[in-house]
Order: sequence, then structure tokens, then C-alpha cells
Amino acid sequence: MTPDTATVSSNVLGTLTLEKPTVEDGAAMWELVNNSTLDLNSSYKYIMMCEFFAETCVVAKENDKVVGFVTAFIPPERQDVVFVWQIGVDASQRGKGVASKILNELLSREACKDVRYVEATVTPSNNASKSLFRRLAKDYKTDCEILECFSEDLFPGDDHEAELTFRVGPIKK
Ligand SMILES: CC(C)(COP(=O)(O)OP(=O)(O)OC[C@H]1O[C@@H](n2cnc3c(N)ncnc32)[C@H](O)[C@@H]1OP(=O)(O)O)[C@@H](O)C(=O)NCCC(=O)NCCS
Repeated sequence: MTPDTATVSSNVLGTLTLEKPTVEDGAAMWELVNNSTLDLNSSYKYIMMCEFFAETCVVAKENDKVVGFVTAFIPPERQDVVFVWQIGVDASQRGKGVASKILNELLSREACKDVRYVEATVTPSNNASKSLFRRLAKDYKTDCEILECFSEDLFPGDDHEAELTFRVGPIKK
């Protein structure tokens, strides 16, 4: 079962394109995160994801400019899970369904053909992110389970919230 937002036959939606990233996109992904509330990782990490995990990463571009992305991977011991490491949409493009389209594009990939669950960790205060994964569960008419993941005391310093796992599935495609 595929949700309405993924029924387009091409990955070009209006002027928005959804693509596998190349290493040339890594810097723009880093910039987008740098301008958001997401945890900023090194630029190396985004370029590395583009090089080695492009099959499970998506960049959304508007007129060739990166306006959103997801970096994700399939954990080696759990081939039925795709773990969303980060998803971000430029502030100018939020609330238009871009993140949902990015997740649908990810799930439509050949690399995700055996995927039945989408997992991500989310901080309790991140309402946009919580809504995004609940929306995904609704679109696929499935469940969104919330589990403890990384407790606050695992993080250095005292300015990082705990991270909860949002587990969406089982997904039937
Ligand atoms: C989370 C984020 C990626 C959502 O992107 P988006 O393109 O605006 O999301 P969508 O338009 O596809 O919306 C998906 C759902 O989330 C809801 N949503 C989006 N922003 C929201 C907000 N600020 N507060 C509450 N709900 C919100 C939408 O209403 C929609 O749910 P609905 O269809 O049931 O109404 C974006 O807000 C973002 O980049 N935030 C900063 C980075 C971040 O927190 N990333 C997630 C952690 S990995």
C-alpha cells in the first residue's frame, strides 16, 4: 500500500526534485543543518553519507538548490529497518509536505524493498519531528510506536535532551 503523496510516477514534483545525493551535495546539506536546530555534524559526515549511503539518502532541490534532505541507513543486523539519522527542510519550505515526500521517496527506493519499519530518534520537545513520523504512520495506515532510546546522561555536558525512538510500521508497500 502506497500513500497518496508517493503516487507520482516521477520523482519530480512541480519544481521540486528528489534525488540520490552526490558528494557535491554534502556541503549544502551541512549548510542547511547549520541554519537549523538540528545537531550539526562535521561537513565530512554529510559528504561521507553521500558517498557511501546515497541509496538510502535523498536530497530535495528547488531550482538546483538543496532545500531538504534525509540521511538514513539500513542497520546491518536489521534489514527490515531504515534508520533516519537526520531529516531537515529549509525554513522557507517547511509545512508544504517536503519532508513527507522525502520519506516516501526513500521508502520507494530499491534499497528499501525489504524495509518494513522506519525508525528515528526524536527529542521530546521536537513537535515538528514527532508530527512528521506520526503523519508517516497515518499515510501508510500503520502504527507509530514510541520507545526509550538514548537517555540524557549518555550525552556529555547538560544541554542535550533524551532521544526517543519513533518506530513506524509495519509498512506494506
Ligand atoms: C521536521 C521537519 C523536517 C518537517 O519538515 P516539513 O517539510 O515542514 O514537514 P511536512 O510539511 O512534510 O509535515 C509533516 C507533518 O508534520 C507537521 N508539522 C510540520 N511542522 C510542524 C511544526 N513546526 N509543529 C507541529 N507539526 C508540524 C505537519 O503539519 C504534517 O503533519 P499533518 O500532515 O498531520 O498536519 C522540519 O520542520 C525541519 O527541518 N525541522 C528542523 C530539523 C528537525 O527537527 N528535523 C527532525 C529531527 S531528525
